[in-house]
Amino acid sequence: MKISVFGLGYVGIISAACLAEQGYKVLGVEVSKDKIAQVNKGVSPIVEPYVGEVVKKVTASGNLTATADIKKAILETDISLICVGTPSKDTGEVDLSYIFKTAEEIGEILKEKQTFHLVLIRSTSMPGTVDKYAEIIETKTGKKRKKDFDVAANPEFLREGNAVNDFYNPPFTLLGCDCETGEKTIRKMYSFLECPFIVTSIRTAEMLKYVNNTFHALKVDFANEISRFCKKKNIDSREVIDIFILDRKLNISEYYLRPGFAFGGSCLPKDVRALAYEAKKIGVDIPVVENIMTSNELQIEWAFQTIIKEKSPKVGVFGISFKNGTDDLRESPAVLLVERLLGKGKEVLIYDENVHLANIMGTNKEYVEKEIKHISSLMESDPVKMIDKVDIVVIANKDNSYREILNNYTGRDIVVVDLVNLFPERKSGKNYRGIGW
Ligand SMILES: NC(=O)c1ccc[n+]([C@@H]2O[C@H](COP(=O)([O-])OP(=O)(O)OC[C@H]3O[C@@H](n4cnc5c(N)ncnc54)[C@H](O)[C@@H]3O)[C@@H](O)[C@H]2O)c1
Repeated sequence: MKISVFGLGYVGIISAACLAEQGYKVLGVEVSKDKIAQVNKGVSPIVEPYVGEVVKKVTASGNLTATADIKKAILETDISLICVGTPSKDTGEVDLSYIFKTAEEIGEILKEKQTFHLVLIRSTSMPGTVDKYAEIIETKTGKKRKKDFDVAANPEFLREGNAVNDFYNPPFTLLGCDCETGEKTIRKMYSFLECPFIVTSIRTAEMLKYVNNTFHALKVDFANEISRFCKKKNIDSREVIDIFILDRKLNISEYYLRPGFAFGGSCLPKDVRALAYEAKKIGVDIPVVENIMTSNELQIEWAFQTIIKEKSPKVGVFGISFKNGTDDLRESPAVLLVERLLGKGKEVLIYDENVHLANIMGTNKEYVEKEIKHISSLMESDPVKMIDKVDIVVIANKDNSYREILNNYTGRDIVVVDLVNLFPERKSGKNYRGIGW
């Protein structure tokens, strides 16, 4: 298997050198003459632990050569890895022109190639890039995707400063591909890696890198906002975070990371607001924390808009408490959603097996009576009867008994708006709307 790598920057030289170290014949394609000359002298074009040694070794063995000759690179290799830059434009939009330029260049040569060629997009690029890339090649060559060539997404997860190590020990190899030949080839190419090999749709793979990087950025800013607050309060933020990360159950875990409905209850909203308020009071700007409540309110608005789109006058809501298994209604996003639906003139009925209004008391009772005055007249005790009376059902709590009720319902066709992923096997379409899927 012979490989060409387009772009010998941080990602490209690491991939090229490490694949060459694994015994593949690799051609590095670059537009910079200086980088080509440097690599061919056995010198790494970037400063990075271990890469100097690897480049020296693989150029000496003849496994890695750099070139500007695209024709040679395409005709003499089976796979091309695209590692060119995808910088920001002034507007913030990602500039994909370097990527698409390689599609034009590769397409030009592929016209005359008789054997199958596979292109892997390693650069970070917006969902849709791979398909557009394939279209450019099809237009340029008149060849058929999957038959004569294919393009797949294979994002790179390395970190500068630890790049060689990350190349050899990634969290997983991710391939966005819907071509069997392509998948087989790439599995073989990466067979030296011990990590899980995940094959998914092209768009999911393209999305992943943005999700990862945005989350990492969020983590950095979150920790730094906490540190600014702590410093002003004379608290050592290093110690705070050291203890915070010890909680692998709720803090550093998958918990609270599933797409679904807004948060609520008597703690999260109150405590986020309190921290944001206190920060203002002591003169510390913590915009990430300050905007958490805005983002949460937007999720309730998003659910409201999803329901309104159905144009159904009668809405049945499963679950009114702030989460499954409790009768706590305080700051429940479902209560706020019902309030908004009533304001829009919808007839709303509610079923929640945990909420018996006669039994709730104290701040819980005060809260719900303030938000929805006549809530007791909306509560239904029989879920099937409720479904019979409405046009659309909204799932606001993740309670498996609601799933059973709906699966066993044999009445009319009913639209289900799922805010909590109660039906992970379903896709938005006929009679089912997922809030974010
Ligand atoms: N740097 C990282 O840590 C990292 C990690 C993961 C993913 N990524 C992503 O990988 C991509 C590349 O990042 P980078 O940091 O290696 O970029 P870079 O700017 O260091 O390297 C890009 C290289 O591509 C070359 N190039 C541009 N057009 C070319 C063409 N038509 N043919 C051949 N070579 C061409 C440039 O001369 C340059 O050497 C980006 O999308 C980036 O977001 C970067």
